[in-house]
Amino acid sequence: MASKITLMPLQFVCLIIVVVMMHGSEAQQQPLVKGLSWKYYESSCPKLESVVRKQLEKGCDGSVLLDGSASGPVDSEKTAPPNLSLRGFDIIEDLRRRVHKQCGAGSVSCSDITAIAARDAIVLTGGPEYSVPLGRRDGVSFATRDATLANLPSPFVPTETLLTTLAPRNFDATDAVALSGAHTIGVAHCPSFTRRLYPTQDATMDQTFAGNLKGVCPDANTNATTFMDIRSPNVFDNKYYVDLMNKQGLLTSDQDLYTDTRTRAIVTSFAVNQTLFFEKFVNVMVKMGQMEVLTGAQGEIRNNCSVRNSNDVLISSVVEGDNIESF
Ligand code: HEM
Repeated sequence: MASKITLMPLQFVCLIIVVVMMHGSEAQQQPLVKGLSWKYYESSCPKLESVVRKQLEKGCDGSVLLDGSASGPVDSEKTAPPNLSLRGFDIIEDLRRRVHKQCGAGSVSCSDITAIAARDAIVLTGGPEYSVPLGRRDGVSFATRDATLANLPSPFVPTETLLTTLAPRNFDATDAVALSGAHTIGVAHCPSFTRRLYPTQDATMDQTFAGNLKGVCPDANTNATTFMDIRSPNVFDNKYYVDLMNKQGLLTSDQDLYTDTRTRAIVTSFAVNQTLFFEKFVNVMVKMGQMEVLTGAQGEIRNNCSVRNSNDVLISSVVEGDNIESF
């Protein structure tokens, strides 16, 4: 998931785009992996976080990174998966240029900029504020399309599979439910959920909801998109869990969290308590953002977020076209 910290927020950023002060909170008390620090750029690039935040606020009129997905035309060219990846890289590369202009070439890694941008996307859509551990270095190798896809959780899997996949990485049921809460914003394409409609309708799906989805996706492979959280698709809140309690979760991997007895009570607890959800979400994001990170003398600090310094391999071309989800 070292590569994932690069990909996850990008996905997030591509897809997505309030401040609950969490300083000194649970997340900040988590032990950090060696080489990361809450104040890594305090002297070398003190304006880093304000440069990123201001740019995202400005460019996105409050929903920057979400533009073109939840807040944009639902079936536009911009929302096609290849463009989602590309758009994310463009945004990150633009931020890198600004940060390096402020603090110098080689000052801040693309993966740190991406982690900060992901946090800011959450904040700008109404989610919790939190501090991001910094000091990551950029990878010099990257996952192939096959390796990337092999590591991504499938939307078709039940909770059982999610839990079994996450357990060896030290993520528990609460972590799995909290992470899935990211689906409070953004959209999914028909092929990600039409197996729940055709040939037979999933019994755990609300009838009216299913009828509406059939309208959006008249056949299984239509490439239209629909919101993942029907109650408040552009707001980072706990309504996703209310959707699940009403059989209005979009993906199998979402809805099954309310069917499985190990996660049902966690879904309910987040549905009735947004503060609790935010707390657990921040906790697991900080944890996920430290998985297999490169630090110290490892890796490099890219001069262009889409290109490895040593040659011209375009990193974006590897994920471009992947309908990816990552963690
Ligand atoms: C629990 C396992 C997860 C699965 C199976 C999963 C699967 C998916 C799928 C299939 C889509 C729709 C892709 C499409 O059809 O275009 C999606 C969208 C999305 N996912 Fe996940 N995901 C998971 C976890 C996460 C995590 C951990 C995050 C972030 C922390 C996240 C953030 C998002 C966002 C923001 C979208 C909306 C993208 C957009 O608007 O274009 N997901 N996810």
